[in-house]
Amino acid sequence: MESRIFLASPHMSDEKYEQKYVKEAFDTNWIAPLGENVNKFEEELASYVRTKNAAALSAGTAAIHMALKALDVKKGDIVFCSTLTFSATVNPVIYQNATPVFIDSERETWNMSPKALEKAFEKYPNPKAVIVVHLYGTPAKIEEIKRICDNHNVPLVEDAAESLGATYNGKQTGTFGKYGIFSFNGNKIITTSGGGMLVSDDEERIQKVRFWATQAREKARHYEHKEIGYNYRMSNIVAGIGRGQLKVLDKRIEQKTDIYYNYKEGFKEIKDIEMQPIPENTKPNHWLSVITLKEDSKVKPLDIMEALEKENIESRPVWKPMHMQPVFKDYDFIKVEEKPVSEDLFLRGVCLPSDTKMTKEEQERVIGIIKKLFD
Ligand SMILES: Cc1ncc(COP(=O)(O)O)c(C=O)c1O
Repeated sequence: MESRIFLASPHMSDEKYEQKYVKEAFDTNWIAPLGENVNKFEEELASYVRTKNAAALSAGTAAIHMALKALDVKKGDIVFCSTLTFSATVNPVIYQNATPVFIDSERETWNMSPKALEKAFEKYPNPKAVIVVHLYGTPAKIEEIKRICDNHNVPLVEDAAESLGATYNGKQTGTFGKYGIFSFNGNKIITTSGGGMLVSDDEERIQKVRFWATQAREKARHYEHKEIGYNYRMSNIVAGIGRGQLKVLDKRIEQKTDIYYNYKEGFKEIKDIEMQPIPENTKPNHWLSVITLKEDSKVKPLDIMEALEKENIESRPVWKPMHMQPVFKDYDFIKVEEKPVSEDLFLRGVCLPSDTKMTKEEQERVIGIIKKLFD
């Protein structure tokens, strides 16, 4: 059987930049959750996305957690949150003993509906924060969402775990809100094996996050603690991988964009297949290429996933919305369309292999297998 085609696998630079930085860490014996690579990775990422400060952490989830803590989200607080996402967006709301309220998607971006957000503010006028996700690397209507949050004086956190390098009106996702977070988990557009980054223009808060993330250890000769801390800092080895990966981020975005357009071209005669739309004024990073099938299509998402799996090719459904998850069933969900958009996308969507290591021939194979189902 041919070798497996992945949804999105780690792709280190041909130049082996990552190994150079990791070797430096070994040579200087900075095998620790601090060191030159950590400091430089923070600076280099901040400079890439054009934000003032960044804190390198052990995961994107830790970054969301720290953003919420920095906003003093606590028991009794309400946090509005995109429903169409991975559970890691919401879990930190629960870590802080706060209450999520899920917001439905809209068709143009698949992301948080500004109309549903307005409606949520009518029902809950004083949420503590709003978390918006840029799904699969496609920017949400972030300026409109930011304007709504500003009008209500509520801080915005951008979960840009999947959208590093994507822009809205030329500005990087993750830099519109008070805080933005990125993930370097193994399947992301650049990876460090695992890791995350919190970005903000607020230097004092970022300093505070670095403090909490290193066990809230006070400046003293002995171990002195006045607050509860976390062991959330990124290691200097991991940060070395990140520095190397950052050098090929633009290239990966180009490759992912090519994959998206190859699929688009490949499926152009199949009327039942639609690609995730590219919203106006945005440049997605195309982390994953995602299709939806028309409701009356004889081919269903499961048929595609099974046909691909038979050929040792990975694909998966669109995220199951958070308001449909058993663990979050008790929380409110705000929608403006009778049939929730997020549920519809979940039922009709398939994430196609979007691995930057795929050859053109492999992409054609994937297209061929899917097209055959429509014969
Ligand atoms: C939308 C979204 N939010 C948060 C995360 C969590 O990031 P991490 O795995 O780095 O904790 C991920 C990915 O894993 C994600 O896709």
